Amino acid sequence: MVLSLKITDLAAREILDCRGNPTVQVDVIVDNDILGRADVPAGRSTGANEAHELRDGGERFQGMGVTKAVENVLKEIKPAVVGMKVTEQRALDQRLIALDGTPNKSRLGANAILGVSLAAARAAATALKTPLYKYVNLNAHVLPVPLLNYINGGEHASNDLEFQEFCIFPVGAQTFKEALEIGSAVYEELRAIIIDKYGKIAANVGDEGGFAPPIVKVREALDNLVLAVKRSGFEEKIVYGLDCAATHIYDPETNKYTLEGEELSTDELLGFYKELLKTYPIASMEDPFSEDDIDGFVKGTQELGIQIVGDDFFCTDPDRIRERAKLGAGNALLWKVNQIGTLSEALDAAEMAYRNNMGVMVSERSGETEDPMIADLVVGINAGQIKTGAQVRSERVAKYNRLLQIEEELGDTAVYAGQNFKIPF
Ligand code: PGA
Ligand code: ZN
Repeated sequence: MVLSLKITDLAAREILDCRGNPTVQVDVIVDNDILGRADVPAGRSTGANEAHELRDGGERFQGMGVTKAVENVLKEIKPAVVGMKVTEQRALDQRLIALDGTPNKSRLGANAILGVSLAAARAAATALKTPLYKYVNLNAHVLPVPLLNYINGGEHASNDLEFQEFCIFPVGAQTFKEALEIGSAVYEELRAIIIDKYGKIAANVGDEGGFAPPIVKVREALDNLVLAVKRSGFEEKIVYGLDCAATHIYDPETNKYTLEGEELSTDELLGFYKELLKTYPIASMEDPFSEDDIDGFVKGTQELGIQIVGDDFFCTDPDRIRERAKLGAGNALLWKVNQIGTLSEALDAAEMAYRNNMGVMVSERSGETEDPMIADLVVGINAGQIKTGAQVRSERVAKYNRLLQIEEELGDTAVYAGQNFKIPF
């Protein structure tokens, strides 16, 4: 049968994410029987400039329900996209943006819009019998270095550690598969260290599967991680990454950051980072300053000499990236599809980053489902780095397992980004 590749139906429903909060799942049906399905992720430590996630409010699910977003898919989006060619991703996304009509997708909800956008890409790939990563890019071949988030703090954990994520980068592995083996060895050593130092209750994990021990000091968290790496025997193959998520320790009224009981100015916080870099081989820092501290990002990028990743700072927004990259603020983009709300705009954001000599790190949200979509997307855009938590919770494991499949499928053409994670080729 010759396919028309036309969207013939849409379905949507409220499902649950890994925190038990509702989120949107969308089905795009092509030629009456080809299904593309996608789940929408949700953040907790969100930036002020993210596309708007529509929640119901009221009492159900503590106001977190998404029945309005689901209804918007069924009542408004469906009639507008049925009949469109599913392979016309850009035209589809533009129609969704126009239908919404607001700058931040607040009318229909970015969660409604993104669900349709991602499900369409998957339906198109399925219809064409192509893996999604190849549908996104026929030159897809780079397997990312996983940024394994093993100690959780900030808004992702119930401890008093201010920085949100303490990660290892197995840059010295030869393959993605080996990177996970190294990661697992370190994780198990870390578990033993944490139980030994803080008791077994401290081995409970935070939102992204990292441990959340009762630590306050950044250096204490890093020392534990360094010790675990040492004991694993993989010291030579590992560097470190932090997500400071500094928007959430910044007070716009005093213009200060709160860290370990002190109030710090931008310059003082920069000084704190410089001292850290003298002790630890940290290769990457995400949001070391708050989302509007351009001065901090410029100085940090110039003076720290490592990868400075903008998460809340760029919000995966091509315009923000263009403006801020010009100033030399940040040298890598944290790429989260739901910060912008359509696949095409997210692809624009990645391209904008590459054109400005920036790295791109593809990222999950802390609220994920078992949908492994970003595993295909990270290979699809040859980004070279992925951040999707620790490999001990199924919503994270789903991404790692999909990457293992992709590495196998690509065979000899697969290249593990390794030391070149920022610019893989
Ligand atoms: P979020 O956190 O998904 O809760 O926003 C992830 C991050 O800050 O990188
Ligand atoms: Zn972040």
